[in-house]
Amino acid sequence: MNGQGRSDPDSGDGLTLAHLSDPHLPLPAPVPWQSVLNKRALSLLSWHRKRRHHHRPEILTALVADLEAHHPDLIAVTGDLTNLGLAQEYRAARLWLDRLGDPARVTVIPGNHEALIAGAWEAGAPEWGPYWQGDGAPLGAGLPDAFPALRRRGDLALISLSSAIATAPALACGAVGAAQLARLGPMLRAARNAGLCRVLMIHHPPLDGTVSPRKALRDGAALRALLQAEGVELVLHGHSHRSHHQTLDTRDGTAPVIGVPSASSRHPEAAAYHLYHIRRMTGGWEIDVTARRLGPADEMEPALCTRLTLPRAHADCAPL
Ligand SMILES: [Fe+2]
Repeated sequence: MNGQGRSDPDSGDGLTLAHLSDPHLPLPAPVPWQSVLNKRALSLLSWHRKRRHHHRPEILTALVADLEAHHPDLIAVTGDLTNLGLAQEYRAARLWLDRLGDPARVTVIPGNHEALIAGAWEAGAPEWGPYWQGDGAPLGAGLPDAFPALRRRGDLALISLSSAIATAPALACGAVGAAQLARLGPMLRAARNAGLCRVLMIHHPPLDGTVSPRKALRDGAALRALLQAEGVELVLHGHSHRSHHQTLDTRDGTAPVIGVPSASSRHPEAAAYHLYHIRRMTGGWEIDVTARRLGPADEMEPALCTRLTLPRAHADCAPL
């Protein structure tokens, strides 16, 4: 899916951002037995018993083809591309990302499956480096200080957080951590002062009660407090494999917090992706949201079309 999107980021017509999540690409075979003598054993069992029947490559292919036909300027992928966080999976996911689009256009963050065991994300992250590094990151720059990462595209500040942490078996929690939170505040402030629309990407839902405690963001309260204090325009997440449309009140106004189902499954909801056409207007931002999901006849179909109006004083500042 290489090639240019439909808009000129500097034209003032706005940008279209596509959001998909949790594709859980097929597990490469065979899985080396030495690599699953840990928490991965349970996940491998779950993959063979259940998940491989749900996450189907043909569904993901249909979804990406439909997304491609809408020519988004940018594509956000909010994690869980892998299942066990194996090196082979990182390599396969890199090839999938390369087909999805140029790294300047596609931004990826890790999910809990990328960090299924300690060290898995750190080992695999370089494979995806061009897709998660922020603007101005030195070539080959790595973890642990890479997040939050900021990419500016036109009037957009696309800010990525990593909530991927290794947890005990049967847990799928996440955490942002104090270091990322300490850097996020000044980043949000600077983006507001620059007159930009701040879109935050995170794998785990940041609002309480969206998922069960065993899957939740452990420092969600701290993240919410920070977002309320610094402001944000739009928050995008995955992880639950369900649609969520919630809001968070911030100092700058109400921010939509929107989750998207898995891009490759019918369970627990049909595969879907979202399109956000974001444009500056006097006194705020206007966002046209289109959800497209897999229909009963295996064709992607429109599921929702709505316009969000976000009053924001800083939208009237000339972008720096
Ligand atoms: Fe997840």
